[in-house]
Amino acid sequence: MEVLHAKERMQEKILRYNEKNMTIGFVPTMGALHEGHLSLVECSRRRDDVTVVSIFVNPAQFNQRDDYEKYPRDLKSDLNHLEQAGVDVVFTPTEQEMYPEPDNREFDFGGLDKVMEGKHRPGHFDGVARIVTRLFDLVMPHRAYFGEKDYQQLAIIRHLTRQMRYNIDIVGCPIIRESDGLAKSSRNARLTHEQRKEAPEISQALFEAIEHSGRCSPDEIREQVISRLNKNPQIDVEYFEIVDDKTLKPIRRKEEAKENRACIAAWVGSVRLIDNVKISF
Ligand code: PAJ
Repeated sequence: MEVLHAKERMQEKILRYNEKNMTIGFVPTMGALHEGHLSLVECSRRRDDVTVVSIFVNPAQFNQRDDYEKYPRDLKSDLNHLEQAGVDVVFTPTEQEMYPEPDNREFDFGGLDKVMEGKHRPGHFDGVARIVTRLFDLVMPHRAYFGEKDYQQLAIIRHLTRQMRYNIDIVGCPIIRESDGLAKSSRNARLTHEQRKEAPEISQALFEAIEHSGRCSPDEIREQVISRLNKNPQIDVEYFEIVDDKTLKPIRRKEEAKENRACIAAWVGSVRLIDNVKISF
């Protein structure tokens, strides 16, 4: 496994793969890797000749300096995991390398950024798009792998790829969970022992929503989930929405529901967690 820090080295590497007609699978990450990230690597290894993983904690997508600074970083352990997973190249640039000059680009996501994460984290998806386009331009992958864990991010990346005419196949991969249902996340490491015990209630509320969806409307489910979770003094729901899985428009009535996703963001202490499930009515 090669670990590269400079864009030029990365470009040379990509050129060599292209000369050999090898397909490139790309997994962008912010490190602090867990089985969720590694499942994307597995998907890529199955489909592509070479797998490139980037590790870069992207300041542009954090709304709060504190969250950026507290974001877990453990490069040594990350590289160990990636080596064992059979990754070919890891790209770990510095901030200066990725943003030699300020990037203030704003993107048109066709309204996909007006709900949920985009509404509560202004500018977040512009920050994601700035880094992802820079990485796409550099790695020029045939396929890029993203987790459904960040469902809105996946939808926005699909949109961006079409809009900017990238010839990249965006592959969405299922959410990997802990045995108690909690979606794996780098942020879980920041939960106290007590909070870690309560956090699975978030996914449990989503699973319960699926069970109730036969006899309740999206609006009723929304109320049930929010009130159930907010009864827990450790949990504070930021949003819960049932949305169309393509347009991300909130669904209120059964008749509007086609293919839907129930998405949540909730605070457990000072840690903000997100999760989602597919749901039908
Ligand atoms: P990060 O949070 O490190 O996630 C990297 C990728 O791993 C994303 O596609 C995310 O959806 C996926 N992932 C995280 N947890 C997962 C889980 N439990 N199951 C399945 N997939 C999971 O998402 C980002 O980084 C950044 O926004 C990035 C795209 C790298 C741009 O900076």
